Amino acid sequence: MPKVRIGDDDVALNYREAGSGTPLVLLHGFPFSSALWRPQLEVLATRCRVIAPDFRGFGESEVTAGPYTMERLADDTIRLLDALGVERAVICGLSMGGYVAFALYRHHPERVRALILADTRAEPDTEEGRANRDRMAELALNEGAAALAKEMLPHLLSESTRRSRAPAVSELRRIMESADPRALAAALKGMAVREDARPVLERISVPTLVIVGREDEVTPPAAARALGDRIADARVEIIDDAGHVSNLEAPERFNTAVAGFLDSIGERG
Ligand code: MLT
Repeated sequence: MPKVRIGDDDVALNYREAGSGTPLVLLHGFPFSSALWRPQLEVLATRCRVIAPDFRGFGESEVTAGPYTMERLADDTIRLLDALGVERAVICGLSMGGYVAFALYRHHPERVRALILADTRAEPDTEEGRANRDRMAELALNEGAAALAKEMLPHLLSESTRRSRAPAVSELRRIMESADPRALAAALKGMAVREDARPVLERISVPTLVIVGREDEVTPPAAARALGDRIADARVEIIDDAGHVSNLEAPERFNTAVAGFLDSIGERG
């Protein structure tokens, strides 16, 4: 997989790329990597240029000191686009990737052709949420990624995924368990201090698709509807039988929603 060196600290950032035409950038959630996007790289690359980075510290990207703020991860993404010669892209972020998409739009709206916000929310952490991030960071550093995965996994997937999609469950567990504990702690600290993205929503003037799994416990459909209500040109797609990782749990429906959205904005690749 290709790597580029970017930024003031010259970090080696890994990314996956496939297809040609309209650039579609896929930003993964926590604690995953670009491997999360396998079902999209396989299918959507037949119609556009899919670019899926590993955020710093994750997947094959270099681990650096934290915290990994959402601004920092957005800045890394912009520098990757610069390195690849991409002026404007459709930005799709899942959960933490959505938080990064908000930061990216806040600072670089001119680089965004359209937004896809999957299983994410605009609100910052509560006091209790921040304390939980500290606890999770300690867990990752003291007991490793597998301990964190064990705690998180039951909350991430729909009942039907847990019951009948064993390969998807194993794939997700493998991705989560291979994360570097230092990166886990750095991203948790970055998410804990992320800004309230609600003021950004009113400023979004590009077509936006909001996707959410109907059984998403972490960022439930109500959070997706709130995004849809506040973004001027947004449509909301609720995916049945999926939880928080809708792109992996219901890849056909996720891909169909994205492809239909790209069609609707005249981006056929
Ligand atoms: C994610 O999937 O990226 C995380 O669940 C987001 C979060 O912890 O807020």
